[in-house]
Amino acid sequence: MITQNRMVRRVLFSPARMVTLLLVLHYPEVLSAQNLDSLVSRSLEFAAQQLQATVVAVGDSTEYPRSTLEDGSWSVKSSSSWTSGFFPGCLWYMFQWTGDSLWYRWARRWTAGLRDEQYDTGTHDVGFKVFCSYGNGYRLTRESGYDEVILRAAQSLATRYNSTVGCTRSWNNRTFPVIIDNMMNLELLLWASKNGGEASWYDMAVSHALRTMEDHVRMDGSTYQIVDYNPTTGDIIQKETAQGYSVESTWARGQSWGLYGFTMAYRETGDDRFLETAQGLADYVVHNLPDDYVPYWDYQAPDLPNEEKDASAAAIAASALLELSTLATGEQDQLAYRAAAENILASLCSPAYLAEGTNSHGILLHGVGNHNKDTEVDVSLIYANYYFIEALLRYSGVIQPKLALRGDSQPVPEGFVVYQNYPNPFNPHTTIPYQLSSPSPVTFVVYDLTGRLAHTFEGGIQGPGRHQFKFNAGTLSSGIYLVKIQAGTQSQSVKMTLMR
Ligand code: GLY
Repeated sequence: MITQNRMVRRVLFSPARMVTLLLVLHYPEVLSAQNLDSLVSRSLEFAAQQLQATVVAVGDSTEYPRSTLEDGSWSVKSSSSWTSGFFPGCLWYMFQWTGDSLWYRWARRWTAGLRDEQYDTGTHDVGFKVFCSYGNGYRLTRESGYDEVILRAAQSLATRYNSTVGCTRSWNNRTFPVIIDNMMNLELLLWASKNGGEASWYDMAVSHALRTMEDHVRMDGSTYQIVDYNPTTGDIIQKETAQGYSVESTWARGQSWGLYGFTMAYRETGDDRFLETAQGLADYVVHNLPDDYVPYWDYQAPDLPNEEKDASAAAIAASALLELSTLATGEQDQLAYRAAAENILASLCSPAYLAEGTNSHGILLHGVGNHNKDTEVDVSLIYANYYFIEALLRYSGVIQPKLALRGDSQPVPEGFVVYQNYPNPFNPHTTIPYQLSSPSPVTFVVYDLTGRLAHTFEGGIQGPGRHQFKFNAGTLSSGIYLVKIQAGTQSQSVKMTLMR
């Protein structure tokens, strides 16, 4: 039987789609790789300035920036808001980018204010709140106790699962609504199930993603925002929208949540159905982006092109497309997704969207929270900023694609691959994961940023597969180092952050 999504892919591989892909691969004249590199670096510098100013302006770490007001300053919300995890998430990304302990201290402060959210069983957004804050913090520092908070949050989310529907419930209104946004929060369940939590959380996440694939994704790769279910029979009651123009239109941020969520679901499960679905959604986005590559708030908004753009939908899509470009199997798809992501990023880094030189305390202008309610329209949104920074770091290689996907059985790529280290402040041990395709003698050479040789370690002969270089810094002081890893005749370098 051909599933709906296989049909979607088939339609999308039509000759017309090939023309689209070729168009997407055609870079606009302004965008050379070098130009984009410098736009990305400048935007990261600008993000750091804005976030530092925001830390000072907000001051109180129980208050969480959400969206900008008329005068450019941030409106803040308490920890219970669905958006509270994004500001500490931005601070963790800045720590990852710079290795500077100032960001570490700020990130910890705003993360600590979210501690009680782990017990929130009242919304699927417990995932956003805890995984963007504690999740990033744990990924970067292995801070003891953070993992327990994440596991407890996963347990809270799991209480919202109904096995008849096969989904976690998103909101508490309607009968049993599941929104496309909820795909994002499955990452919490998937991570937790692999890191000390219940195995059943993995099955819940897979079931939720499969049901969403069937019920929210249309034949052309576009998405519904809401499907309301009967929790007793599992039947669909009706499909709806809250933030989109109409039930049958495609709310732009919802489309990006789905694209990101299915990409993540494939990364975490290796289930090809999720890759196919992610590509279907990606193709819809790529095919329907306007000239400046930033979607309108709804792909079918009534008065196009005189409608508001939504930079948050663009930033989420850019980050997802960068990841998808490393997961898609066909070279043409990989190139098309990468090119689309770069086009979006170039636009977001331009004066049309970057808040540089304006009164805004945000990083990206022109986000739309809820057009239908006329709230947070044409403002800077904290989640737009978060996914923009994530995309900039993915583009720069600071956030590396995760080890893939089909478990250990996946062939190791030719040569070898090195991944970002896990800096752990106050602990001079760090770990750099890498994988080899054939047995090789391995050597690690550490240089400081002036290029001076700091240390050499002989790793002996290592077999094919995944390994970890556990680095004991000995007497090295805190700072950023370059580690050159030599495997046989090949070598690669990574930046390593060491903090005491
Ligand atoms: N998850 C809520 C929103 O995207 O507006």
